[in-house]
Amino acid sequence: MRVDKFLSNMGCGSRKDIKHFVKIGAVSVNGKPCKDSGQNVDENSDIVTLFGETVVYKEFAYLMMNKPQGVISATEDFRGATVATELVGEDFNFYDLSPAGRLDIDTEGFLLLTNDGKFIHDIITPSRHVDKVYYCEADGEIEESDFAAFEKGLTLADGFKCMPAKLEMIESGNGRCKARVTICEGKFHQVKRMFLARGKEITYLKRISIGGVALDESLAPGEYRELTADELNILKKEND
Ligand code: URA
Repeated sequence: MRVDKFLSNMGCGSRKDIKHFVKIGAVSVNGKPCKDSGQNVDENSDIVTLFGETVVYKEFAYLMMNKPQGVISATEDFRGATVATELVGEDFNFYDLSPAGRLDIDTEGFLLLTNDGKFIHDIITPSRHVDKVYYCEADGEIEESDFAAFEKGLTLADGFKCMPAKLEMIESGNGRCKARVTICEGKFHQVKRMFLARGKEITYLKRISIGGVALDESLAPGEYRELTADELNILKKEND
């Protein structure tokens, strides 16, 4: 790969900027000043520095975001609403990030953002059974029969038959409930419609884990961080 591509892919500036950096002697490869922005480097073994700092090449970025309410989990919104990728700062916004699965505008919580298309596909494909866990608050109380109904696979109002899901009650009473629900599908408004199929209306929804990786509760709504190597391994193993 050309050194200007290497550096611009890592968010160090445009190809024109890199050409300028080379010209002023700010770029070196394996300790030797780089004299040509078209010089080829091996992104896996060569040591490239810019202004004395080593730039590590990473083809893919994997971010865990705590999506706030009011933000759309897409890359573009033509109505002018804020989209999740707009919350990503200069540290990662040079990657072509997309969300791995959607959350409704009023749903909070764990949104995975990456430029790894295969990873996205594997996370969202229902037959791969990657569990997504939601914390739910709803109007309506949980009845004994709800557990078996979720387990068996609910039929939604439009006739869609859901895959088996797990309902765990946190509390229920006075016409309201709090629960956790685990699903491995991601149909439009799925959890809301599953609750409606049981006569309950979701009032608050937050995704709290994906494929065994929990949302980092230290992330305030709108904040994000890179997945740790362990978290990424867990998610990649889920996909094997
Ligand atoms: N189910 C929903 O109803 N909404 C979401 O955002 C995610 C799952």
